[in-house]
Amino acid sequence: MHKIKKNFISFYLGFALKNPLVFSTLAIFASISWPLDLVLMPYLNKVFVDRVSQGGDIYYIVAPLSFLFVFKLVANLLNRTHDYLWITFLVDTQSRIRKFLFKYVHGHSYQYFIDHPSGKLSQRLNEVVRNFENLVGFFMELLIPLSIGMVFTIALTARISYIFALVFVVWFLFEILIAYSLGPKALEAARVHSNRSADLGGAIIDSILNAINVKIFSSPLRELGYIKKKDDAKCEAKKSSMFHSWRIRVVTNVIDSMFFIVFFFMLLYLYKIGRVTLGDFILIYGLYINFGRSMSWMGTRVAYTLESIGIVNNNLNILLEDYSMVNNTKRELEVTKGEIVFENVTVNYGNVKAIENFYLTIKPREKVGIVGASGAGKSSLLSVLMRFFDFEGDIRIDGQSIKMVTQESLRDNISYVTQESMLFSRSILENISYSRRDASKQDVDRSIELANATSFIKALPEGIDTLVGERGITLSGGQRQRVSIARALLKNSKILLMDEATSALDSEAEQAIQESMKNL
Ligand SMILES: Nc1ncnc2c1ncn2[C@@H]1O[C@H](COP(=O)(O)OP(=O)(O)OP(=O)(O)O)[C@@H](O)[C@H]1O
Ligand SMILES: [Mg+2]
Repeated sequence: MHKIKKNFISFYLGFALKNPLVFSTLAIFASISWPLDLVLMPYLNKVFVDRVSQGGDIYYIVAPLSFLFVFKLVANLLNRTHDYLWITFLVDTQSRIRKFLFKYVHGHSYQYFIDHPSGKLSQRLNEVVRNFENLVGFFMELLIPLSIGMVFTIALTARISYIFALVFVVWFLFEILIAYSLGPKALEAARVHSNRSADLGGAIIDSILNAINVKIFSSPLRELGYIKKKDDAKCEAKKSSMFHSWRIRVVTNVIDSMFFIVFFFMLLYLYKIGRVTLGDFILIYGLYINFGRSMSWMGTRVAYTLESIGIVNNNLNILLEDYSMVNNTKRELEVTKGEIVFENVTVNYGNVKAIENFYLTIKPREKVGIVGASGAGKSSLLSVLMRFFDFEGDIRIDGQSIKMVTQESLRDNISYVTQESMLFSRSILENISYSRRDASKQDVDRSIELANATSFIKALPEGIDTLVGERGITLSGGQRQRVSIARALLKNSKILLMDEATSALDSEAEQAIQESMKNL
């Protein structure tokens, strides 16, 4: 497995560079037009003023004016081409990031999904995708162009006076120092906010998923109270994060104002003693105005960018956690007869011991029912057989330890009907054929027949193409179970696991399915 990068820079850059030509074109365009705009305008103003103040022919000022006109034209052309390329680049790159994260998250162990509820994960994923725009925009459209503009500004001012050049450098360094010293706290505040925000998002989804319980217990107000606590915590963190950003902006403003005073009085003085011309005065003043505006714009963006960085790094660390149950082999399970041996199996969930020293041998073609009290560990037995969780001891299928074969090959060889029927919010046909995409219509019909589901599916308004709603909510409990049984049977594996799969059925339907099982 390749090393996953959890830092936002390398993560985003990796995706941006998937399209190197467009990415570098965007970076180059942004690095040309803005710095030129920043520096050239004050310079042309200076030329203009110098020539006018020297008097003479009107044609003297035609040259700089035409230059200005052509420059504006070129800059506009660059900017609009840049914007055009950016649209496709942004949408495509965000789509790549979304698909990558989605695929990576599905590779996590089952335990990961227990630890990280779906609502939170979906929010974290969306935040990483969304912030690509802010963060790449900040570096590519602001920090790099501004730094280039800075170099030009210093070069131009140095020609007039080294002192001004020095003041610009010190100013820029101050801005960096502010970000550097106040940054870490802002990042930490953003991290806390990101976690609480995911917490709130998860709680809202959980509450909505439980809408039926909220109705049963007439508890919308109680739910509001529950959400309010998380909302308060989130708001407090959001405020703290925003106050950190605000503080950075205040300090930036103070620094900017101080530099304005220094600049203004220095300029006045030097002009008075005749060290700078009126043109130079206009140039430095113009550079100051442009630079100052960019600086305060940057101060604002630095603050927001730090927030984004904190959020993205935190979410990447959670989404891109290393996989906890990886295959340590490439060997695939081969089921020939279907013998299953449990040898001294012990299952722990942290401190909870679900199964202890369990032995069982299931011979080929044998049908075994496991009986036990609620919480005795029946489902856990099936879970570890599917390798959803790790366990002590050994389980062998046809002599091969299931720890020594890939998890995918193990699961491909087992049909499993879970205790709670979970269906996708898709059609019945899509749900059933999910287990075997290339199944023929006859095979699908046969598995529906075996699951005793033919008549109810036929009676639905759109038959097998009827949509079943979230988690299959538009079907009755027993219908949902029969759809999951049909799905498992269609897979046609040599091993079939059913976890109380007919618990929601009437005795007649249960009888019919048991008959079907006998004939498998
Ligand atoms: N993911 C989990 N994390 C922590 N504990 C768990 C987890 N799943 C099950 N348990 C615990 O393991 C024990 C066995 O649970 P299991 O679901 O296997 O019982 P069961 O025999 O299938 O019960 P039932 O007949 O009610 O379905 C229980 O005490 C349960 O609380
Ligand atoms: Mg169970």
